[in-house]
Amino acid sequence: MEYAEIREQICDVCHKMWQLGWVAANDGNVSVKLPDGRFLATPTGISKSFITPEKLVVIDGTGAVVNSLPGYKPSSEIKMHLRCYREREDVGAVVHAHPPTATGYAVAGKSLDEYSMIETVIAIGSIPLTPYGTPSTDEVPDAITPYLQEHDVMLLQNHGALTVGCDLITAYYRMETLELYAKISLTAHLLGGAQEIPRDRIDTLLDLRENYYHVAGRHPGYKKFSS
Ligand code: 13P
Repeated sequence: MEYAEIREQICDVCHKMWQLGWVAANDGNVSVKLPDGRFLATPTGISKSFITPEKLVVIDGTGAVVNSLPGYKPSSEIKMHLRCYREREDVGAVVHAHPPTATGYAVAGKSLDEYSMIETVIAIGSIPLTPYGTPSTDEVPDAITPYLQEHDVMLLQNHGALTVGCDLITAYYRMETLELYAKISLTAHLLGGAQEIPRDRIDTLLDLRENYYHVAGRHPGYKKFSS
């Protein structure tokens, strides 16, 4: 099978997302940009617990199916994925899921834009809430586009979360970081509210990003280190 290793990695991420309770029924979708410029995507309508390598769909940049098992179509959210690749040459993988605490913020109409936890400030910066869009339509890609240039992690209003990365593990780790941060923020809220980090301390943390190679990516502070 073509791209066997990437297919295995996508399945591994899908199984992890289901085990972590980030997706129910057919929720969530994953895609990866292939070296030949095409894309591997999860099929629509299948539990991420049941995904196996041969069920993944190869598509081109327009979303047209290049290769799939009979009856398997790409995720209904493929337009959202393709917009991420189109807008960002650096994006190699896209993950969409409904991790419950982060999605709770999206459903409550709250962004996660406080600078209150060191690791999150360094790794992903502020997390915006992108406007409401009907799933599968152009409304979703249109809603995320203004945020894509400075963010790798987004909350989708009344829907869930979206992460991008240079590769699949990076995009997946960002979803983990988001959900843990959402849990920590909620706990801090229950304890009386998060204490924000002072502005000059935030600048010092952003300087540290230069040494954190594994977190390199878009971020409200990324321009500081891009030429
Ligand atoms: P698909 O099964 O079409 O990927 O849709 C799942 C989903 O989460 C829609 O937002």
